[in-house]
Amino acid sequence: MEKILIVGPASQILGVRIAKELEIECINTEFKKFPDGENYIRLNIEDETIFADKKVIIVQSTAPNATGDQNSRLFELFMMIDSVKRMAPAKIIVVIPYLAYARQDKIFRPGESQFAKVVIGILNSFGIDELYVVDVHAPLLVNECLCKAVNIDSMKLLADYIKSRGAKDIVVISPDKGAVERSKAFAKHFGENIPVEYFDKERDVKTGKILMSGKLSLKEKDVVIADDIISTGGTMASAIKIAKQNGAKKVYAAATHALLLQQAKFRILNAGADEIIGTDSIDNEVAKVSLAKTIADYLKFD
Ligand code: R5P
Repeated sequence: MEKILIVGPASQILGVRIAKELEIECINTEFKKFPDGENYIRLNIEDETIFADKKVIIVQSTAPNATGDQNSRLFELFMMIDSVKRMAPAKIIVVIPYLAYARQDKIFRPGESQFAKVVIGILNSFGIDELYVVDVHAPLLVNECLCKAVNIDSMKLLADYIKSRGAKDIVVISPDKGAVERSKAFAKHFGENIPVEYFDKERDVKTGKILMSGKLSLKEKDVVIADDIISTGGTMASAIKIAKQNGAKKVYAAATHALLLQQAKFRILNAGADEIIGTDSIDNEVAKVSLAKTIADYLKFD
């Protein structure tokens, strides 16, 4: 089946890279915010029949960046899906490398909304055919999808990059106990018997303040701290500080989605990280690992 790809405003680099991997045409958009705050987006096409009977792939991360917040990104995505729906495509495939609100997958305090499920519910309401996300914070969310939904794993790509930087005597550290299983899977990409450790992390659900502690022997070790998201960098910086206090030689701060909000870069580097590594799920300067080929591999079949 013939494919065509729409590059959303938040995935300009990754979208084009995926189209190149698939050797298909890609369509850009025109987007803005009206003075009242409402979003506008238009697919850059003159002829609405170009999507007819094709597999239309829409790529749009929903992380905040310089040109839009996550709510704008979500609305742009919904509008792109809505436009394509009208144009008789054979299939609509949605790729959301970073899924906003995935951390709000449970009720932490009375009165909250499980908004992650609401986002999936809205996608379901469009009747899309396939959904691809990458290292989504709450993997069980894909079970809420009515269509085929895949959570793509970026761990091998991140590990390959860190190996290429010459990391030796590696210890993988999970920034909290909940992420240990993910860190164990990550560590396997560095070889058998790579130690995986974790620090105790507690986050105050009201203030967001992080308390972290732990004692390990990391002398002469290269430490890789891997998380799914770096937002403000508080989690990463706390883990790096403890790793350094415990003797770590080099520290690699790796995350699939390095949002790097507020003073995250300063906090992480100042805590002692040698390098911050992210993927192109977020268009920024630490996007050293491309997800394009891995995502394209999922999309190339009919
Ligand atoms: C939380 O459980 C996530 O996996 C990340 O650890 C968290 O989102 C990072 O946030 P921040 O960078 O603001 O500490």
